[in-house]
Amino acid sequence: MPTPTEQPAVVVRARAQPGLGGGDDRSVLTVQTAPPLLDAQTSRTPALAARLAETRRLTDVLAEPLSPEDQTIQSMPDVSPTKWHRAHTTWFFETFVLGSTGTHRPFEPAYGYLFNSYYETVGPRHPRAERGLLSRPGAAEIGAYRRHVDEAMARALDGGLGPDALALVELGIHHEQQHQELLLMDIKHVLSVNPLRPAYRRIAGPPTVAERAPRWIEHPGGLVEVGHAGGGFAFDNESPRHRVHLEPFAVADRLVSCRDWMAFIDDGGYRTPQLWLSEGWATVSNTGWDAPLYWRRGDHAWEVFTLGGIRPVDPAEPVCHVSYFEADAFARWADARLPTEAEWETVASTQPGDEVTEGDGFLDLDHLHPRAVPAGGPPRLSGQVWQWTSSAYLPYPRFRPPLGAVGEYNGKFMVNQHVLRGGSCVTPVGHHRPTYRNFFPPSARWPFAGLRLATDR
Ligand SMILES: [Fe+2]
Repeated sequence: MPTPTEQPAVVVRARAQPGLGGGDDRSVLTVQTAPPLLDAQTSRTPALAARLAETRRLTDVLAEPLSPEDQTIQSMPDVSPTKWHRAHTTWFFETFVLGSTGTHRPFEPAYGYLFNSYYETVGPRHPRAERGLLSRPGAAEIGAYRRHVDEAMARALDGGLGPDALALVELGIHHEQQHQELLLMDIKHVLSVNPLRPAYRRIAGPPTVAERAPRWIEHPGGLVEVGHAGGGFAFDNESPRHRVHLEPFAVADRLVSCRDWMAFIDDGGYRTPQLWLSEGWATVSNTGWDAPLYWRRGDHAWEVFTLGGIRPVDPAEPVCHVSYFEADAFARWADARLPTEAEWETVASTQPGDEVTEGDGFLDLDHLHPRAVPAGGPPRLSGQVWQWTSSAYLPYPRFRPPLGAVGEYNGKFMVNQHVLRGGSCVTPVGHHRPTYRNFFPPSARWPFAGLRLATDR
């Protein structure tokens, strides 16, 4: 499984947020220190500093192809401008790590208002839907802010931080990785609303992969355990580990493809109310959805807008940018259903293919679009697209939100959202694990989200 190679000496009780999920971030937490492990944690500080620098560098790399104008636009309230992501992730380290040292002077005190995402206990903040109105500070000033905080972080780590602060550095790294995926999701939407349909960067075309019918991975059901088992970093919404009883079931060994989706469209899937949840049908009726987000009818075939520009839809690739409502309707049309998150995790935790969560299927700047996977090798549930589950995003049994400002993160978002599993082609390498719970409202289509079918046995 994709647990980090380092075992934190402090127990980080991070809180995911609707970041990837509902919104701009996810993350902060509360930290429970394990004093006897302090020495071990401290001794790993150089490795932590190296990972911090690598993570911060990747954010800069992701922003590199974008002009200051690109980085300023907010194309819808759910989207945040690139420069806001760059600044907010920096604010996180400055506020929660450097702010705890008692000696750091803020780079610009007003940034606390501009780049606080939703921490009520930290202070007032700029309205989320108005982030695109901030022509200033400009992208270059945000770059200077990042460098200033990076240098201060390096000095702080070099000088020695306590276990709580080190745990927050670890959390800040994972938080920034979440924003790296959000940055790519958001800039894709920003570029898509430009009539010129500009590319973010050049990416590879689809591979030539023979299509195949899905096969079922059977599971006998019974009493299973799900949730983070300890060892390595996890957000607090992945705990506590607990027991769940499953009825016999099966999940498909491949994702629903674009060809599958074309059949759904051709069969009137978007025009058949019997297939839809009431709220989903109301959404279809109000929005006029008739295909996944970013699809359009070309002269001869479906086309799709990607981070590399517009290209023909590859029928073999996993369908992407569909909402929960659409995924649920498709599953009903296919005489199947979506898996629960416990079913998904139970199967993923035992598939040899899911032991590796790096490489193919996760963030790769040469691709940035889901690809068809060749047959052969052990089935793998993770990668390419996040997968909608039928599970509402709720606290696990005995979940208790952490105390403190950072404790605002998770618990307050556990309503009106659905869980997605699996990671996507824009999820940073090493960021995913089988217990990872992403979450979005059921109408969200801008995440890199698709689906995998399940059925009863
Ligand atoms: Fe955030």
